[in-house]
Amino acid sequence: MGPSSILLLLAFLGRAQGSSLHYSDGLSSRLSLEKTFGRAVRDSQCHHMLKHLHNGARITVQMPPNVEGHWVSTRCEVRPGAEFLTRSYSFYANNTFQAHQFYYEDNHCTRPTYTLVVRGRLRLRQASWIIRGGTEAEYHLHRVQMVCHTATVAKELSQRLNHSCRGAARGPWEPGRIYELWSEEGGHDCSRELNFAMHELQLLRVEKQYLHHNLDHLVEELFLGDIHTEPSQRLYYKPSSYQTALQNAKNHDHGCIACRIIFRSDEFHPPILPPRADLTVGLYGQWVSQRCEVRPEVLFPPRHFVFHDNNHTWEGHYYHYSDPVCKHRTFTIYARGRYSRGLHSTRVMGGTDFVFKVNHMRVTPMDLATTSLLNVFNGNECGAQGSWQVGVEQDVTTTNGCVALGIRLPHTEYELFRMEQDAHGRYLLYNGQRPSDGSSPDRTEKRATSYQMPLVQCSASSQPPDYSRGSDGDRPLRHHSDCAGWHAGRQTRAAAASVALVTSVLLFRQS
Ligand SMILES: *[C@@H]1O[C@H](CO)[C@@H](O)[C@H](O)[C@H]1NC(C)=O
Ligand SMILES: *[C@@H]1O[C@H](CO)[C@@H](O)[C@H](O)[C@H]1NC(C)=O
Ligand SMILES: *[C@@H]1O[C@H](CO)[C@@H](O)[C@H](O)[C@H]1NC(C)=O
Repeated sequence: MGPSSILLLLAFLGRAQGSSLHYSDGLSSRLSLEKTFGRAVRDSQCHHMLKHLHNGARITVQMPPNVEGHWVSTRCEVRPGAEFLTRSYSFYANNTFQAHQFYYEDNHCTRPTYTLVVRGRLRLRQASWIIRGGTEAEYHLHRVQMVCHTATVAKELSQRLNHSCRGAARGPWEPGRIYELWSEEGGHDCSRELNFAMHELQLLRVEKQYLHHNLDHLVEELFLGDIHTEPSQRLYYKPSSYQTALQNAKNHDHGCIACRIIFRSDEFHPPILPPRADLTVGLYGQWVSQRCEVRPEVLFPPRHFVFHDNNHTWEGHYYHYSDPVCKHRTFTIYARGRYSRGLHSTRVMGGTDFVFKVNHMRVTPMDLATTSLLNVFNGNECGAQGSWQVGVEQDVTTTNGCVALGIRLPHTEYELFRMEQDAHGRYLLYNGQRPSDGSSPDRTEKRATSYQMPLVQCSASSQPPDYSRGSDGDRPLRHHSDCAGWHAGRQTRAAAASVALVTSVLLFRQS
């Protein structure tokens, strides 16, 4: 839809980016004195889980990261396209690496098609100043090889790759034999046809975490750079966020069966994950993010959703922070609207199409910087002009959203969902990855073919939460006391950071 489609944060599940300015002549919105949190968050389990996100203390980020070791996928991964794969990457002390990518026909990774074996060298560079906690790196490939796992796949791929191989793929290939797609010495590149690149190695982050507060149970995770949602752009894309993490084979979650299977595999014995049935996506109850994920240019705030399947409406809370451990809140958004279920996805095995609409929104600035920013905007572009106060919620529906935050209402998004149960039996809800170009999936053609990090179900009930006003002391998320308790220096730093956050959103809108 071009530059007039703003969008941003929200529209439903997503990360926030806008693309242009929108001026509206709506009426001033009324002030709402409702507190930001409280409402739906009061369900105790949801409550508890959000609280855990908010104190990022359990996770530590290793800087610079030590990537030496063997890292494996924790589940069947989905890449844009859609492609289904598992990964097994080893990094050695002499700075070389060997990466196995196992590809599959199906969305549960039970039928392997082919495996890529990639060897090369990795050199860590400086800490990323765009993605806090990330480290930039350079890689250099030595060779890329392929093994096909069925006769049909071997025949198809040898024909398909023959173009870019310039005849190097002699004869039909056989399954179970290793073929060279590219090497430093060779003059051909058979890998181009696959849009193959290892640019994910250009951005790394290692996290350590003690599971269940148990000092004996360390889990180490390796986050590598994201893959462009448009497969043809992969070769030219520099990562700006992360993929699903790999876990260190030595320090992995004991409940991870896939980890053990992948760890023992090689290119001739690809991992075959346990078969599972596709779960029907049931959008009901309450769901929360499992981690705090805040990055300046990929604003991806912790979220809490309530789905009412009786009347197909949803409510979402988006908690924005200025810091990567989710301590300093900048603003909170409450949005709601309708959704409708579509058919099984024809492009992504195991996925279900949905359409989401946002038609109501409230904003609460949580720090001085964001409040000032909102007050700077003239006219009826974001609530009542000049009336914003820290911690006071305001309805922005009548001003068609909020220009300052790049949100325009009403907004529609074409979504992709899938559901899964984790090792502990909890339901996970995956929704579509946002387009890497920062646009929003506002047309069916832009519907995702891969997923974001899952939300976890925290309550099977979407019962209207308890509105009774208890003492504020019970609330896990106390906004007023946050500000009061700050030291001046810290407050200034946080304020500066949140201005940077919001202005980066503004910058995106002009691109
Ligand atoms: C680097 O170390 C790995 C594992 O020890 C070894 O297989 C590989 O040959 C070494 N590479 C070089 C260039 O020394
Ligand atoms: C690849 O192309 C060459 C000619 O360009 C042909 O001789 C060869 O049989 C082809 N290989 C396959 C596997 O199709
Ligand atoms: C939808 O149902 C929920 C729960 O029953 C209720 O709280 C909400 O007000 C309803 N929304 C609409 C638009 O009818």
